[in-house]
Amino acid sequence: MNVRPVSADRLPALLQGMPKAELHMHIEGSLEPELIFQLAQRNGMTLAYPDVASLRQAYVFSKLQDFLDIYHTGTTVLRTEQDFYDMTHAYLARAHADNVVHAEIFFDTQTHTGHGLDAQVVVNGLHRACVDAQAEFGISASLIMCFLRHLSEAEAFEALEQVLPLREKIVGIGLASSELGHPPEKFAKVFARCRALGFRLVAHAGEEGPPAYIWSALDQLKVERIDHGVQAIHDAALMQRLARDKIALTVCPLSNLKLCVFDSLAQHNIGRMLDAGIVATVNSDDPAYFGGYINENFRQTFAALGLSAQQAWQLAANSFNASFITDAEKRRHLDRLDAHFETFR
Ligand code: HPA
Ligand code: ZN
Repeated sequence: MNVRPVSADRLPALLQGMPKAELHMHIEGSLEPELIFQLAQRNGMTLAYPDVASLRQAYVFSKLQDFLDIYHTGTTVLRTEQDFYDMTHAYLARAHADNVVHAEIFFDTQTHTGHGLDAQVVVNGLHRACVDAQAEFGISASLIMCFLRHLSEAEAFEALEQVLPLREKIVGIGLASSELGHPPEKFAKVFARCRALGFRLVAHAGEEGPPAYIWSALDQLKVERIDHGVQAIHDAALMQRLARDKIALTVCPLSNLKLCVFDSLAQHNIGRMLDAGIVATVNSDDPAYFGGYINENFRQTFAALGLSAQQAWQLAANSFNASFITDAEKRRHLDRLDAHFETFR
């Protein structure tokens, strides 16, 4: 759609009301400190932090691993199917308020089986919340299980086996956790198995890791989208490949800022990605930890980079086109997106 310019003072309302899909968020990263404390109390647990404020104060990171360490502490309060349900319901309610009409939610089971839980408890709690949110908010949501790349491929195979009885509740497979030192090809065999089972495939690559990890995710794992992918900017041939093959990047600007991938949002490359014809999208990654949900990512990124209404439309259209919904559902959302932009003429 050809979008007319919108003045800077009206852009925030345009972004807020714009229907959008969120394709990169880790459900455990939506656990707000308040809910962490509520769940700890419900489960009779004592946290290493005395209160919400002191926990929030610890959210200062200089790299991905700093975040993963504290994020792991938060996950320890998740003990029952209802805990997973409540966490997911809270996220979907919040996403709905940002006019997210479709979400593809990352989760992992390995963190929780490591705490003695049954993987199926995790999947069932998440899935039930997704079903209820469709009825309650009219939002659609599907689940993508991430393998933890700091663990072995054999452990990924085990995690896969554990959820196969619930195959129908999971749309895709991803790869998360500590990137450096754990290249995608470490998981080539298990991703081949997932592909044969009909799962859609994605992987985190090029967040902190080099462009070579993005090549490897594409060529060895055969993923359809790259999560983050911002390091692709350093490899011209890779940029051409991403644009040519319409490989979407699920970019998370506030995450990149908080994990010091960029020194400031003004230095973020998402505008350059769009200019290069790459199917970039905006996402929140771990909104409880990185300073905001998806609309806050849009708002701050547009303010810092001076992006246009045309680019807002493109980012939202990309989010639907890159999602794992049917073509008919994509068409329906894209029509609503165009209608929203019509109202801003
Ligand atoms: N990167 C890698 N793994 C993660 C992230 C991330 O940003 N968030 C949660 N797990
Ligand atoms: Zn992520």
